[in-house]
Amino acid sequence: MTFLHMPPTRPVPGSRPIPFDHNDHYHRLLLRHLPSGGRTTFDAGCGTDRFARRLAGRGYEVDALDPSPQVAAAAESIGGGPRYRRADVTTTDLPRGHYDVITCLASLHHMPFATVTRLREALAPGGVLLVLGCYAGITRWDLVAVPANAVARAAVHVSERLRGAAPPPLQAPVRQPDMSLTDIRTEATRLLPGSQVRQLLFWRYLLTYNA
Ligand SMILES: C[S@@+](CC[C@H](N)C(=O)[O-])C[C@H]1O[C@@H](n2cnc3c(N)ncnc32)[C@H](O)[C@@H]1O
Repeated sequence: MTFLHMPPTRPVPGSRPIPFDHNDHYHRLLLRHLPSGGRTTFDAGCGTDRFARRLAGRGYEVDALDPSPQVAAAAESIGGGPRYRRADVTTTDLPRGHYDVITCLASLHHMPFATVTRLREALAPGGVLLVLGCYAGITRWDLVAVPANAVARAAVHVSERLRGAAPPPLQAPVRQPDMSLTDIRTEATRLLPGSQVRQLLFWRYLLTYNA
């Protein structure tokens, strides 16, 4: 599998800024789950590459993959950082038993859930799979998530105004999830025995699996 070096993310003219990004909000949580001593990582559905760059900033060798032409456009100028490939993770060949860390942020619901099997097979012994996922349906947490989301968006908006206008981020393709949290837990238990699925506040879950 050949990867290109991915340049810094550039804004798409006319795109709207996201005042509070639910996926980026959980980057720090994901970073806390990185195993010590890991070296190789793979970010499936990297989108705007923000998390891949964070991994690279921590000294990891990062392979990042996404089929979006929008994201491919950002790879036109070659720079340092993550090695990028425009491809579909459900069909592309992944090296077996290779990666110390595989991440998949807000992307799994774009593919069949069983894609986790391909990701699991690409993990090195002792490697960790981290899925920050989206689920369908309303849960009790929404009673807290909706007002917390409004407060967080307002706080980020005010902070950005005070600091001066932030450049609008490149936006990756989005899609509504169609699996409930219950179904996700069932499939995770079946396909990734020993995995854990934890519900997070902002309409996300964190799946962790140790190979
Ligand atoms: C909501 S974006 C999330 C992007 C990024 N991970 C983030 O946290 O900002 C979902 C991404 O999944 C990518 N995607 C969709 N289908 C895919 C597939 N079959 N293989 C790899 N990536 C895919 C989309 O192109 C998009 O960039």
